[in-house]
Amino acid sequence: MTYKLKFKDILHTNQFSVEDLDFIFSTAKQMEKIITWESQWGQLKWKIMASLFYEPSTRTRLSFESAMKRLGGEVITVSEAGTSSFSKGETLEDNSIITSMYSDIIVMRHPQIGSVKKSADITHLSVINAWDWSNQHPTQALLDVYTILKEKKRLNNLKIAIVWDLKFWRTAHSLVYLMWLYKNIEFSFISPTELKIPEKVTSFLNDKNIDYSETDSYIEWLKDVDVLYVTRIQKERFTDISEYENLKDDFVLNLELLNNAKTDITIMHPLPRVNEVDSEVDKLPNAAFFRQAQNGVPVRMALLKILCERV
Ligand code: CP
Repeated sequence: MTYKLKFKDILHTNQFSVEDLDFIFSTAKQMEKIITWESQWGQLKWKIMASLFYEPSTRTRLSFESAMKRLGGEVITVSEAGTSSFSKGETLEDNSIITSMYSDIIVMRHPQIGSVKKSADITHLSVINAWDWSNQHPTQALLDVYTILKEKKRLNNLKIAIVWDLKFWRTAHSLVYLMWLYKNIEFSFISPTELKIPEKVTSFLNDKNIDYSETDSYIEWLKDVDVLYVTRIQKERFTDISEYENLKDDFVLNLELLNNAKTDITIMHPLPRVNEVDSEVDKLPNAAFFRQAQNGVPVRMALLKILCERV
């Protein structure tokens, strides 16, 4: 492999070019073979990944840890802020210096915007942002785009609808920041006014001259959609819980609603879900959300391999 990424950290979706994505996705494709080909598992033998999760996670933490182990590496973990010396008042700076002495690559989820970048600036190691609050979740966006590529066999000429909580869902924003790179992409943002897509995202699309529409109506919007990306309304993000209670059951994707959709629509969700996708949808061949979560392993294997082998 002669291609090299020009950066050491994965912090933000804006950092990628189409060539970077091609490189990551072709490496992920190779990683899919390694998952079932044990003789290749030792590629990162002797490497240690620090898995620092100061906010809850199932998919991101476990798929990163699974990815490192599939490559033959080791994992050291903090899975709760309360079990780290943050709880004794240690600074992020000191914590990052110490962690970098014990590992070869760092994956971090942290509840403060910019915290992962701060940690990356301190250490010579590669640091991967496993999300910093409502800011960025770049590896989710990478696996989302990889899933679109696998499901649709293309990344150009797509109408993508993103539905429900567009205000807080960083994966929805991150998806926009990656998919605009491809040709003839059109976005539809469907949400109640209280949860509409932030202006920073629409301003970004305006600057790039990318087509998008916004609506609060759940009727008729599915007609021409190729990829439907559903998000969860996040109780934990509301300061006024009555606002959450008023909104929480307003949108449910079910078979009746999908009668208005194209037959080859791809249905995605970053998960976890609560009520917004009825379980009867799971049995449709177009329901790609569990395959999407599974794609987290080869994509994260690819990132670990590329970053650990870049020096
Ligand atoms: N999609 C996602 O980030 O899931 P977790 O919060 O479980 O990691």
